[in-house]
Amino acid sequence: MKLDLPRYTERFGATSLHGVQRVFELDSGFDDGREGRSISETIRRVSNEEISEIERRMAIVIPIKGERLKLLEGVLSGVPHDCLTIIISNSPRQPVDRYKLERDALEQFNRFVGRNALILHQSDPGLSDALREVGYTGLFDQNGVVRSGKAEGMVIGMLLAKMAGKEYVGFIDADNYVPGAVNEYVKIFASGIAMSKSPYTMVRISWIYKPKMSETGLYFSKWGRVSETTNQYLNSLISYYTGFETEVMRTGNSGEHCMSIRLAELLSYSSGYSIEPYEVVNILEEFGGIIPTVHQDVMDKGVEVMQVETRNPHFHEDKGDDHLREMTVASLGCIYHSKICPPKLREKILEDLRNKGMLAQGEEPQEMPKITPFNVVDMRHLARVLTKATSFAHTE
Ligand code: GDD
Repeated sequence: MKLDLPRYTERFGATSLHGVQRVFELDSGFDDGREGRSISETIRRVSNEEISEIERRMAIVIPIKGERLKLLEGVLSGVPHDCLTIIISNSPRQPVDRYKLERDALEQFNRFVGRNALILHQSDPGLSDALREVGYTGLFDQNGVVRSGKAEGMVIGMLLAKMAGKEYVGFIDADNYVPGAVNEYVKIFASGIAMSKSPYTMVRISWIYKPKMSETGLYFSKWGRVSETTNQYLNSLISYYTGFETEVMRTGNSGEHCMSIRLAELLSYSSGYSIEPYEVVNILEEFGGIIPTVHQDVMDKGVEVMQVETRNPHFHEDKGDDHLREMTVASLGCIYHSKICPPKLREKILEDLRNKGMLAQGEEPQEMPKITPFNVVDMRHLARVLTKATSFAHTE
């Protein structure tokens, strides 16, 4: 892959937020003694060897809740062979056991491709028992079982990725119509990691287009309705501290992103659909130099957040207006409730959500439950007790 180096960077304490980088070439070949790594001062070539090497050390987590199986099968086919695929499902088990269908589809797929894959249902009581035994209960609801929610599924996926000894974890939604786009996301994840100078890295996907059907045909819009608002407030948060207006954040809601496990295990996560913007907020809270941190090594080495624009457009399931409202309130809510959110920005968020009719007068966005860092979990112990989860399957 050939992509440009970040053109500009916002530095916020120990965190470097890089502006969007572009892909010039999806596949820039093998090394074979040909041109070196740097094509020029501004373009970096990441060879197929480098990408493959990183893919072997990467798990791809696919959170799924009742998506069409055809889409899941397409997504599976787009994940590079050497990555460990981890499906965390929250699909209904009655009247039809959708989880069983997903597991059957994965097993059938793997019979042909011989891929290493794990699948688990997040509401499996055996999983909750195992988490209780290792003392990691921040994912539980009032009944002592793992809550429903996309973030909850993603955190379980990260635990399994670390348990399997992977160094990087990427996320790809199950409702993607284009397997080739999935493949590109993973190549971008690997290229970003190859370019990063810190072991504490995050790579977020910025879609070149998110096409919509219009009366005149396909319309290639650039921004999703939720992400435009989320980015605006993340940028305002950054600007408040730096004193300079910025547009650096373009991927506030990007479900497709990856992290080094070394960074992932230190972050707190916000429940449900607020997970993606809160990852950025939490990085600023922890490593932005505003609040003291116990992680001096991260402060010394720095955190890099990269954003890379795809070549493929993003075609996914459209889930309707109520869903967009829920995502907007959750996204702005996690900025609103952050301990580093200035009072002026809080007022603006409230006013905006009320003007949009997403909150009633006098109402505040709900504060989503937080999930504490998983660096405290004893992975060997977890691997031993996870056998209690009957839905857990490993296919090779
Ligand atoms: N395991 C699990 N548990 N998966 C879930 C859950 C859950 O409770 N809820 C949703 N998912 C899965 C979906 O099946 C899908 O694969 C993925 O998470 C994304 O959920 P969607 O409901 O399809 O969200 P979206 O496509 O509207 O929004 C996505 O893109 C946004 C940016 O445009 C999500 O990734 C958002 O988080 C993201 O901000």
